[in-house]
Amino acid sequence: MDEPTVYLNGRWSALSEAKVSVLDRGFIFGDGAYDVVPVYGRKPLRLEGHLQRLARNLQTLRIANPHDQAGWTELVREAIACNAPEDQSVYLHVTRGVAPRDPAFPVGVRPTVFVMANPSAAPPRALVTNGVECTTAQDNRWDRCDLKTIALLANCLLRQVSADAGAFETLLLRDGSLTEGSSSNVYVVKDGRIATPPRTHAILPGITLELVFDLARDAGLVIDARPVGEPELRAADEIWISSASKEVLAVTRLDGERVGTGEPGRIYRRLRAKFDEVILLLKRPSTAA
Ligand code: PDD
Repeated sequence: MDEPTVYLNGRWSALSEAKVSVLDRGFIFGDGAYDVVPVYGRKPLRLEGHLQRLARNLQTLRIANPHDQAGWTELVREAIACNAPEDQSVYLHVTRGVAPRDPAFPVGVRPTVFVMANPSAAPPRALVTNGVECTTAQDNRWDRCDLKTIALLANCLLRQVSADAGAFETLLLRDGSLTEGSSSNVYVVKDGRIATPPRTHAILPGITLELVFDLARDAGLVIDARPVGEPELRAADEIWISSASKEVLAVTRLDGERVGTGEPGRIYRRLRAKFDEVILLLKRPSTAA
């Protein structure tokens, strides 16, 4: 496969030619924010939501946003245009920049901006049809999990728990309650009622989650945003996960036990059909993004 064409600090080049200083604070401290935008049929899904979240994260981290919404939109458009796949995953990454190693913020430093479009990592149809297996772990991350920062070591360690077990994702429990997945949001269904943990500093406010809320509403389904205890997770009829790259998937086994019937549930299938409609619309030639 051809190397992706990427953007680094104002210049487009082959991925292998894009280089940053070892003093970049992203490299030294994990000091930066990122976002991932899914693209279907060369059209980004919910771009505005992703860009607004990136802007919010940069503001909280006190990193000057290098581009306004129009500037980012243009960069995403160019990234899609100069890469071959119809379906892509556009990665946006901003660090505080290059400075001598000192935790205190440097003054007058230009943020590093990196944009990369990869072929879509959307799950194969078999996973949509059959569901995925997950494991659980204690959520030992910091207390600002609402920020999408590039400091992802805890998420990587937690993801490896399920990878070691041959499972797809790790669902996280903090003080006896569900928070989210290592890189996804989580929902449970019991007796036809859908619930997902509330929007607090303990979870990332997912853009796919927002879409799932909208699709549920369109389908006449209600999602309660409220705490979900571990017993409720383990007794759920259905469990779903969502993210920009995982889309919406049913969890059919948790820690080796069957979830509900062990197959994607009725409500999942209803919701997923709505999700597929959104994707199909984007993939249809000449629809607006
Ligand atoms: N991850 N929670 C965490 C911890 C995440 O890392 C993600 C996304 C989500 C879902 O957010 P969204 O629906 O906006 O993708 C929830 C991205 C895809 C990643 O790190 O690749």
